[in-house]
Amino acid sequence: MTQPTVTYRICVVCLGNICRSPMAAVVLRHRLDKAGLAHQVTVDSAGTGSWHVGQPADPRAVATLREHGYPDNDHQARQFSADWFDTYDLILAMDSHNLADLRELAPTQAAGHSVALLRSYDEVSFASGELDVPDPYYGGAGGFRHILDHIERAADGLVEALREELRDR
Ligand code: 4NP
Repeated sequence: MTQPTVTYRICVVCLGNICRSPMAAVVLRHRLDKAGLAHQVTVDSAGTGSWHVGQPADPRAVATLREHGYPDNDHQARQFSADWFDTYDLILAMDSHNLADLRELAPTQAAGHSVALLRSYDEVSFASGELDVPDPYYGGAGGFRHILDHIERAADGLVEALREELRDR
């Protein structure tokens, strides 16, 4: 039996694409791999801003992922471009500012509907209404551990949702 090929493309988006979204991409790929969905889903990341384009992930993000057993990966920051709404099935914003910026960038209202907040996939966060992954850039290492926790819980919920979504593809 042949394996299904990639049918679903995700892009996680923060402001700088050096802290939150590269971490979320690593966690999501890892969870998808464990769930047996890695061949069906790709995960990229980008920022709404251009300041860090071409740079690697922030060393605090790299260290936090490493401390928690995630594999290293090469990262080069990118800026999200309006024509990528055609490329991705799901665009996941890390906070409400990123969400608003992405919706503004969307060429059509329908394209804007492919954007959601990552933490909306965590039932507990959804119920609490606290849906931002806070920007850790100006804080210490503790902030990076804290956001990893949010990202991991949301990634678990997202993988469950994708299992349903992709079951018949
Ligand atoms: P990120 O964090 O959006 O999670 O990558 C930030 C990185 C850089 C800046 C702000 C947030 N900055 O102002 O340069």
